[in-house]
Amino acid sequence: MDFEKIISQMTLDEKLGMIHGDNVYDTKGAERLGIPPFRFSDGPMGVRGEFDRESCDYVKNTDDLATSFPCPTAVAATWNEERAFENGETLGREIRGIGRDVSLSPGINIHRTPLCGRSFEYMSEDPHLISKIAAGVIRGIQENDVAACVKHFAANNQETRRFDVNVEVDDRTFHEIYLPGFQAAVQEGHSMAVMGAYNKFRGEFCCQNSYLLKNILREEWGFDGVVISDWGAIHDTKKALEAGTDFDMNVNNRYDEYHYANPLKKMVEDGEIPESAVDAVILRVLKLMERLKMFDADRKSGAYNTEENRQAVLNVARESIVLLKNEDKVLPLAKDPSKSILLVGENANRLHAFSGGSSEVRALFELTPLLGIKMHLGGNYHIRYAKGYSSEQQDEEAARKLREEACELAGKADVVIYVGGLNHEFDIEGQDRKDMKLPYGQDELIEALLAVKPDTVIVNMSGSPVEMGKWIDRAKAVVQYWYSGTMGGTALAEVLFGDVNPSGKLPTTFPKKLEDTPAYKFGEFPGDDKVEYKEGIYVGYRYYDTFDVEPEFCFGHGLSYTDFTYSDMKVQVTENQDAKVRATVSCTLKNTGDRKGAEVVQLYVSDREASVSRPAKELKGFRKVTLNPGERTVVTFELTEKDFSFYSVEDAGWKWEHGDFELLLGSSSRDIRLKEKIEL
Ligand code: BGC
Repeated sequence: MDFEKIISQMTLDEKLGMIHGDNVYDTKGAERLGIPPFRFSDGPMGVRGEFDRESCDYVKNTDDLATSFPCPTAVAATWNEERAFENGETLGREIRGIGRDVSLSPGINIHRTPLCGRSFEYMSEDPHLISKIAAGVIRGIQENDVAACVKHFAANNQETRRFDVNVEVDDRTFHEIYLPGFQAAVQEGHSMAVMGAYNKFRGEFCCQNSYLLKNILREEWGFDGVVISDWGAIHDTKKALEAGTDFDMNVNNRYDEYHYANPLKKMVEDGEIPESAVDAVILRVLKLMERLKMFDADRKSGAYNTEENRQAVLNVARESIVLLKNEDKVLPLAKDPSKSILLVGENANRLHAFSGGSSEVRALFELTPLLGIKMHLGGNYHIRYAKGYSSEQQDEEAARKLREEACELAGKADVVIYVGGLNHEFDIEGQDRKDMKLPYGQDELIEALLAVKPDTVIVNMSGSPVEMGKWIDRAKAVVQYWYSGTMGGTALAEVLFGDVNPSGKLPTTFPKKLEDTPAYKFGEFPGDDKVEYKEGIYVGYRYYDTFDVEPEFCFGHGLSYTDFTYSDMKVQVTENQDAKVRATVSCTLKNTGDRKGAEVVQLYVSDREASVSRPAKELKGFRKVTLNPGERTVVTFELTEKDFSFYSVEDAGWKWEHGDFELLLGSSSRDIRLKEKIEL
């Protein structure tokens, strides 16, 4: 298509209509010239409901009910790039199916602190894991003639004062921790869109920050897609346009007052901004439309609420569940209809999909653990439910009554499954948690349940870590279950009763207590006008492992119903200075148990001597492998020069230094099974 010609035929009003909101998630398009509106869709957990142009609220017809997806933390917990791809592919298919063009996802901001309200919408504390999972999700989404929009660029790691907090982070940290996920999203995932964050970075709002959007994103990384503002994140029309923000989106119905509407029009008319600057944006937008086949008859049509989509999200949910602890092989539970089962806890019976902020989904349905378990076991089982605690405001007396009721039933039941944790009053956009504790008196309840029923299976449902110290030593079986969407309850039932062997691994450390976390310890969270990331590169396990702070459950941890052994580690160092691959690492993994299962082999690099301080270890590779009992396979990784490097501020680039490195292969960041020293 001759875009130059089309642009020359457009009026200024038509151009501006294309680049600012004309409904919460739509632009206008230029009908006269056959240019359709752009239609975005929140968010990472499925198609968000349709919005009304006047009220900026849900339309609430039935045609926007959709599949609810596991939260991004769950996707990362699969540690499986293929699953990530399928998750994205399914999300893209739903979005196209409802007729939208851009998925406002994935969310990939680093888990800097467990308290960030949006942790559940993000993936991990580790840039390598984020990079691989995000790239997979993005490639999947974009299989459907739908663009991904990775968010929120950049350093958007808290909700407190999210609209204006100024983030200060040193250059090395920024490059080693906060940028790699976005770089991979752009260069490996080929994300066609990027969302600029609300916050300021080094004194300037992200959506008008030339260093971020021009120097890094477009010049350094070669990004040729579009930048979409977070909703209401532009404060200065000229700066935003000049920095390279293409779309001005917001959440109010005064569409003509948006920055890229009348204010920009006036600036162009007054000669303050050349119309050619607007044309450059329009050209980018038209090119994206072309890539998405928005002018073509053969564009993919997608499909939402299909059985195929439900199977895909079920697979993700299955693989995301993390078996944290399993003493005396309490799990899997035997399938025996003569045993009575009691489920306790509000989360066994609560719907979560339509809450949490912009990632909420009007789910066609959502299987709770209670429903999932009943559907899974069928009518011959005796299954009861006791709430145990309530998220509603109540007095001490009412809380005690609920607790006692649950304990009395637990004493009589053969099997007790507790499903508690958080909900979207805590894991939520717009606010951070105050602490890491379980709310609603759950610690007390769990302690009481364990006293009457020591085998109680504890399922923690949350999108971020919680403290478990009060009872963890007494609990034998503990499972981490995330917001898992439409098919969640089935996935949980299958894992608890052994139809699925758990294979999820923590994508983020579960610290023992808030006081142990680096952002807390170094004092700057949530900050005030400004927050300085004083912990530097020591985020997550990089901190815990370097400074010997023992977490409750470490990064990468997750058990299985079978056992794996690691052997025959081989390392081959490439001597040739020009070779990109510096080392090939392999080991043999064997399933020595009696069930089929999947293990995530994790490769960490440890720089033993360096001119700068380096973390005890850094994840540089992982692979999920499924093996039958007795089966073995060789797992191989290739490490490039960059995998041994740190970001040198002096050289403004990645640098590796000669000397000793240690390569670590293991089942988690703290369960290292094999290691070998090499000299480079
Ligand atoms: C959120 C974004 C979201 C947007 C549109 C903002 O408040 O930060 O993640 O995509 O709203 O709903």
